[in-house]
Amino acid sequence: MRHLMSPLDFSTKELDDLFDLATDIKNNPEKYAHACDGKIMATCFYEPSTRTRLSFESAMTRLGGNVIGFSDANSSSAAKGESVSDTIRVISCYADICAMRHPKEGAPMVAATKSLIPVINAGDGGHQHPTQTLTDLMTIRSMKGSLSGFTIGLCGDLKFGRTVHSLINALVRYENIHFIFISPEELKVPDYITEMLDEKNISYEEVISLDEAMPKLDLLYMTRVQKERFFNEEDYIRLKGFYILTKEKLEFAKPDMLILHPLPRVNEISVEVDNDERAAYFEQAQYGVYVRMALILTLLKWAK
Ligand code: NCD
Repeated sequence: MRHLMSPLDFSTKELDDLFDLATDIKNNPEKYAHACDGKIMATCFYEPSTRTRLSFESAMTRLGGNVIGFSDANSSSAAKGESVSDTIRVISCYADICAMRHPKEGAPMVAATKSLIPVINAGDGGHQHPTQTLTDLMTIRSMKGSLSGFTIGLCGDLKFGRTVHSLINALVRYENIHFIFISPEELKVPDYITEMLDEKNISYEEVISLDEAMPKLDLLYMTRVQKERFFNEEDYIRLKGFYILTKEKLEFAKPDMLILHPLPRVNEISVEVDNDERAAYFEQAQYGVYVRMALILTLLKWAK
């Protein structure tokens, strides 16, 4: 049995197989409509989410399976003081696979050690968000044809944004990737990440100006300033409008640059950009369902 805690839990070959399966699901959905008949997924969300939880529910439902779960820690026994380990041990009696989101870093990992069913980390604090990364990689591979040889700009809250941390971790395994980290000084990518890049000899730049970076980018990954991880409201208010992607700013971008965003968007991409051919964030959300369908199928197959 295998779990998914970090995108690195899968080899690049296993990821390729997963994306091939997701592509087949996209092209032939009817072939998979009953692949999970009789199976149950538990979604245990101790932290708010719309997209991730609903995309898991949509994925399992499209495979013919059923979903149980909670979307708020206060409506689970955590409110009574139950540990994550006990909760997962019990949920193992009710479901065949579990997706868990938790505000504490490492909580899904603790759950996985006690679980009798595969556990998927659906986001743990500011740490990792592997299924968003699978979604991002799938979108890039499908729309750019490859996962190697590009310059990617990651812009916004690089300090608290777990999708950013997960994606960088995953991309370092591909060839000729150049990172441009675009953030205000206060929201720079954590040191452990730049140290890892230095160690692996991966090229990156850290800049403040989005305009300066724009012409060099093959991909622009925008992110929201993570309000819920700030200790102080004033800092959040000061930083939340730091980058706003507009039509004018895009005039300096390559004609085939892809604009990605894990969503939810607050104000960092102006809505007028949605009509730009380069805007790929809603397609990205759609790829997220196919890739989660492929992940559920793969983990259930390995658990047999
Ligand atoms: C992200 C998350 O939860 O980290 N959302 C998502 O799952 N698509 C990004 C965010 O909340 O900013």
